Amino acid sequence: MMDSKLPGTSTTIFTVMSKLAAECGSINLGQGFPGFKMDDHLIDLVADFMRKGFNQYAPMPGIAPLRNVLSDKIFSQYGHRYHPETEITITAGGTQALFTAITALVHQDDEVILFSPAYDCYAPAVEVNGGKCVWVELQRPDYRVNWDHVRKLMNHKTRMIIINTPHNPSGSVFHHDDMKELEKITRGTDIIVLSDEVYEHIVFDGIDHQSVVRYQELIDRSMVVYSFGKTFHATGWKMGYVWGPEHLMKEFRKVHQYNVFSCNTPVQYALAEYMNDSSTYTGLPLFYQKKRDLFLRLISGSRFTVVPASGTYFQLLGYENISSLKDTDFAIELTKDKKITGIPCSVFYPDHTDHKVLRFCFAKEDDELVKAAEILKNV
Ligand SMILES: Cc1ncc(COP(=O)(O)O)c(C=O)c1O
Repeated sequence: MMDSKLPGTSTTIFTVMSKLAAECGSINLGQGFPGFKMDDHLIDLVADFMRKGFNQYAPMPGIAPLRNVLSDKIFSQYGHRYHPETEITITAGGTQALFTAITALVHQDDEVILFSPAYDCYAPAVEVNGGKCVWVELQRPDYRVNWDHVRKLMNHKTRMIIINTPHNPSGSVFHHDDMKELEKITRGTDIIVLSDEVYEHIVFDGIDHQSVVRYQELIDRSMVVYSFGKTFHATGWKMGYVWGPEHLMKEFRKVHQYNVFSCNTPVQYALAEYMNDSSTYTGLPLFYQKKRDLFLRLISGSRFTVVPASGTYFQLLGYENISSLKDTDFAIELTKDKKITGIPCSVFYPDHTDHKVLRFCFAKEDDELVKAAEILKNV
């Protein structure tokens, strides 16, 4: 038998729970994808560009009009201009951008600091590239970083820190103080920050998204990852982008060009035209805040405990008052017996720490949320 490069890795929980939900006819609030239609106008634009013949390979870093639009967008949002030619690359979703950045920048035996619970694609990418994951657990109940703890774990082998704000699965967000701490602890080092900001437009209650791009010192050491799928309700398109300073982007593109080479051409042209109108994404925070508020209103009075969230389309619910089952078992029981599916949060911890919390995705049509809440209230 050949040695596995990832012996501890199996099929992702999202695949497992979605399959079980389909088999059981359960309402699937597990996997994070919008349950509503995307904008027909964007679909029409893609079809138009296909008909006009934009169907061959795009340039390796992405088409110029899209990189130009993104450069303007970043500038107007965060006040920093990335050079479209050398500092922005279009990718096959956020996941590919993350994997490629880690592959390009993490060397054998480098240490990478990660925060748990963590979105599940970071650690395998570090490990398959010969890096070592160094975990810091976010402090509950509000899932904040203990920066003193991070500082103690840093040493000359620390190559990268991976941050994710707004945070999947907890919905917590970094504050200005967190970014200042990050700036402080990396000052004078050559540590790279890989910043996963795919939920940048899903932030609630008037809070400003704290992108690393707001912090000059962090800009020079950060690769920042986004997903068109999250922003335009099109996760199945698997389209994203990454930006970073030229010296890091040069390394990123060395891997990117042999990894995917380039990404879907007509979709890139369509997005470039669509995003000329910024109202296509500026309404998103309010749209999702209404969904979150509706979901919370609908489940009020249930025996689940609500973990307050400031971003993403996920809501954590604790079930410590309901069952003492392991979260993986409880999630299966809910799916089979009650026909409602969430994701057990232990899967986001390296040692499967079980805090008796499930993650539910509220990016669904209102009537589906009503049905889901009806069930949750009776658990
Ligand atoms: C935190 C986080 N990063 C990255 C991704 C992946 O984005 P994409 O679907 O564009 O690959 C996801 C998707 O769920 C996510 O939650």
